[in-house]
Amino acid sequence: MPCFGAQDMATVALVSISWCRIRRMTTFAHRNEQIHPFRVMQVLARAEQFSLAGHQVVHFEVGEPDFATAPPIVEAGQQALEDGLTKYTAATGIAPLREAIAQYYADWDVRVDPQRIVVTGGASGGLTLLTALLLNPRDELLITDPGYPCNEVFARMVGAVPKTIQVGPDTLFQPRPDDVAAAWGPATRALLLASPANPTGTVIGRSALAQIHAVVQQRDGFFILDEIYQGLYSARHAGMAEYRSGLEVAQDIYVLNSFSKFFGMTGWRLGWIVVPSEAVEPVTRLAQNLFISPSTPAQYAALAAFETAAMDIHQQRARAFQQRAELLVNGLKKLGFGIPVMPQGAFYAYVDVSHTGLNSRDFCWRLLDEYYVAVTPGEDFGAHNSDRYVRFAFTTDEASIHEGLTRIDKALCAWGAG
Ligand SMILES: Cc1ncc(COP(=O)(O)O)c(C=O)c1O
Repeated sequence: MPCFGAQDMATVALVSISWCRIRRMTTFAHRNEQIHPFRVMQVLARAEQFSLAGHQVVHFEVGEPDFATAPPIVEAGQQALEDGLTKYTAATGIAPLREAIAQYYADWDVRVDPQRIVVTGGASGGLTLLTALLLNPRDELLITDPGYPCNEVFARMVGAVPKTIQVGPDTLFQPRPDDVAAAWGPATRALLLASPANPTGTVIGRSALAQIHAVVQQRDGFFILDEIYQGLYSARHAGMAEYRSGLEVAQDIYVLNSFSKFFGMTGWRLGWIVVPSEAVEPVTRLAQNLFISPSTPAQYAALAAFETAAMDIHQQRARAFQQRAELLVNGLKKLGFGIPVMPQGAFYAYVDVSHTGLNSRDFCWRLLDEYYVAVTPGEDFGAHNSDRYVRFAFTTDEASIHEGLTRIDKALCAWGAG
């Protein structure tokens, strides 16, 4: 008969503790299995390793402005801290900021009652609120493929089902009204589009937007429009945009916006949503419960974002992005890359790498490992033809863009590609 000593008992205890740990690890909620890591984060991590090892990496993977937050905003943030403005605010944000945002729309003749504006923790906070507000479990949310990768996760968090509409260069990577109508099924509740979009930088024209809105309205659905890259239109394509916000087309669109991109405040974590009047009360309850309030110092800093001194800086930076777009796209075209659509906004170009004979994932890793140029593979943005596309973010200066193009040229020669 086996005999257990104190040591054996200790071993048994340890084994069962470890087993409990393993069991706990394997019983996380099922939804986690459907959430994919950002490939771009892996690219960024590897790029950082190379930088630490002394290599000069050219960064085309980063989806945020390379410019620091404009000095007037930083000063306003510092002042807020000095003034002790560090307590909670109203869940919907401080009144002067909601008024300043309403004025921002009023400057283009779009009337928005400040009560309909809810200040959020970035557009991400806005997406959390809107999916919780609008979607029941098993409701479908229509999104595009390619599109912003987190959209589907926000839907899943509330038990809803993301349903993709595949879009390609023939429609500027935006769905046509007919595509929305065809995709809309009995379980569909809402449509989420972005204009300008990530990863393609393309814009939905005004008349298409109005027609898409009509399709959604006829089906009693909700239309969410992500305008996070608003303000970053290319002058060359300004005619395409024909409007500054979807609110010019219809006031019942749920609009998302953020201080992250045009206003250069990614790390401050501040954005806003505009909702129809009837949604103000329920969305306020959600905001109170989920977030209590947006960051207080960030809100006071953001007040300065609308003043002339900061606006001049934002406009100047938007122009710099346009110049970089031209430089990068022309350079890549000369190297034989297909760029089916010139970016009309944001700071991204969605580039076809199929002529290199490599799929987008191999292209990205080889370019990084061998030439220290970081780009994001298309698979981060969906599955539709994603193995042939990579996203270049021109969030780096012109000298780095030249350097990146030189290295890509060398890579193509060395690989016998292109
Ligand atoms: C289309 C789109 N929507 C929303 C977000 C979230 O941005 P944030 O939470 O920084 O405002 C991003 C970020 O890159 C984006 O590209």
